[in-house]
Amino acid sequence: MAKKIMLSGDRPTGKLHIGHYVGSLRGRYAIQEEGKYESFIMIADQQALTDNARNPEKIRKSLLEVTMDYLAVGIDPAKTTIFVQSQIPELNELTMHYLNLVTVARLERNPTIKEEIKLRGFSESIPAGFLIYPVSQTADITAFKAELIPVGEDQLPMIEQTREIVRSFNNTYGSILVEPQAKIPEDACKRLPGIDGKAKMSKSLGNAIYLADSADTIKEKVMQMYTDPDHIKVSDPGKIAGNTVFTYLDAFGKDKEYIAELKLQYQKGGLGDVKVKRYLNEVLQAEFAPIRERREKLANNKDYLYQVLQEGSRKAEAIAAKTLTEVRAAIGLNYFD
Ligand code: TRP
Repeated sequence: MAKKIMLSGDRPTGKLHIGHYVGSLRGRYAIQEEGKYESFIMIADQQALTDNARNPEKIRKSLLEVTMDYLAVGIDPAKTTIFVQSQIPELNELTMHYLNLVTVARLERNPTIKEEIKLRGFSESIPAGFLIYPVSQTADITAFKAELIPVGEDQLPMIEQTREIVRSFNNTYGSILVEPQAKIPEDACKRLPGIDGKAKMSKSLGNAIYLADSADTIKEKVMQMYTDPDHIKVSDPGKIAGNTVFTYLDAFGKDKEYIAELKLQYQKGGLGDVKVKRYLNEVLQAEFAPIRERREKLANNKDYLYQVLQEGSRKAEAIAAKTLTEVRAAIGLNYFD
């Protein structure tokens, strides 16, 4: 029997950070290695253009950054098909067919879209392509009949919208599309805060640690990290909840017993921030040094990166074309067959 399909993706708007890593990259790698699913990872450059139309250079540059991030964390092109959204024109036609099955009101209710519109200050001037990107994401997923979508929590509304469109399509034209399921990370990894402890990690907030960061940069960022502002003297009792250093230890630390001990001691008083930060720094350095080294080697090899993307895109396009043929036939657009 054919394997079930896993598909995931990212917008290329910059380098990936360690929030992406715990939030979904690590999970995709585990699924790849487990081998139960056939894995696809898409770089969503067209989706990235929906709010960067006047800055295509950024997207072009980030395409290679994201590719390096993937390969550096162990995504292996021999096991996982890595492809580029814009190179699969079939996805755009699928999007057009699906757009007829969704209302503008429904698109405007999508909580992630709402949030993004607010963040970007679009108010009344929302690019139409931006509003409909969840439908284009539906095309990304259904073209491959993907069943498992490992993503961050913010993507749940996209998967829900995809499921609705799939049901509507299947009811209207016959059952050919597959309803996907999101796989979100466990609690400790859901929303890694930025080093300022405030919001989720993001480039625009300047509070992210990148997979490409040097050892020194990681250390500097850890040393700046937000802790418990009332924990002033080492002897003061400190809070764990909302304390970024402990949030990160929960997400990355392997020695759970030792972390539990540190927490107890911190809460009682007598454990200084610097000591916990030094430990977190060790944990992060151990995790990210090999990733950074692999990334540095790839950085000199643009041709190889483009080759991986081109081969992946060719393979992906063949699959998307097959689904599109089925979709056209289901709608009755196969006049000349
Ligand atoms: N919207 C996703 C993000 O911003 C990227 C994405 C595009 C995606 N198409 C996808 C994720 C298909 C999963 C499946 O991270």
